[in-house]
Amino acid sequence: MSLHTLSMHRSQPQSTGEVALVGAGPGDPGLLTLHACQALQRAEVVLYDALVSQAILDLIPNGVECIAVGKRCGAHSLPQAEIERVMVAKAAAGARVVRLKGGDPLMFGRGGEEMRALKAAGIPYRVVPGVTAASACAAYGAMPLTHRGVAQGVTFVTGHGKDGQPVEDWRPYVIPGHTLVIYMGLKRAEWIQQGLLKAGMDPQMPVAIVGQASQPGQQRLNGTLATLPALAVMEGLPSPAAIIVGETTALAQELDWFEAENQPAVSAKSLDISLDSAAV
Ligand SMILES: C[S@@+](CC[C@H](N)C(=O)[O-])C[C@H]1O[C@@H](n2cnc3c(N)ncnc32)[C@H](O)[C@@H]1O
Repeated sequence: MSLHTLSMHRSQPQSTGEVALVGAGPGDPGLLTLHACQALQRAEVVLYDALVSQAILDLIPNGVECIAVGKRCGAHSLPQAEIERVMVAKAAAGARVVRLKGGDPLMFGRGGEEMRALKAAGIPYRVVPGVTAASACAAYGAMPLTHRGVAQGVTFVTGHGKDGQPVEDWRPYVIPGHTLVIYMGLKRAEWIQQGLLKAGMDPQMPVAIVGQASQPGQQRLNGTLATLPALAVMEGLPSPAAIIVGETTALAQELDWFEAENQPAVSAKSLDISLDSAAV
């Protein structure tokens, strides 16, 4: 190709736009990647989920078309098929679209379905990973997901299956020296507790719930599997929240660096004492 044809080719308007599936992380804008920031700066249309924090939405330049597509606690402001239709239509009309999702797009984020829809429509796309809730809960909740001699592995699992029902048989998840991070499990805490107990987990297994990890309103509650349902309905526990099950959660009070600085009034310690002494 000659230089002439190359420049002509470049100067032609792009007929099809593109989509970036971007992970917004757990809420703190400081956790956005550089790729995510650049995609937001270049975007012409942003379709965002309800889990994306206001602090991150504030980074979108003025004049960008922003479309809230919802999804919070099962309440979808736009059905998934409609989200995909709008995303494809905007890109097909030539727009640079950012599909902005809480956490990581490929972790319980239906990112795979959206990639499939884009592929089927012939729309170019890329994926920008984000900090997933498990990493944020671990970092800001001060509890490692793995820890030498304590936890050699970690599993991420949803507490809310395709039809609302979480995992039925928890036996594959009850593994010695293993941490379990349960997304979307708060409303099913008792079901999850019963499933894990039935699968043989010790009722004294340490657990934690972290709500709004990385955000100013973060709260971490520590207890045991026996007290999990009581923890999950604790007044003031902010949403979204994830449940972490495993020995490493017991390290949180020793290792805490975030809540002591940001939430001196939160009495996670006193909750530990009252709940751990509660009857099973
Ligand atoms: C639909 S899933 C999306 C997960 C997201 N793609 C990710 O990678 O974190 C939503 C669930 O993620 C968890 N979650 C998301 N953000 C969180 C946060 N800042 N703190 C605690 N849990 C969070 C909660 O369990 C919530 O119910």
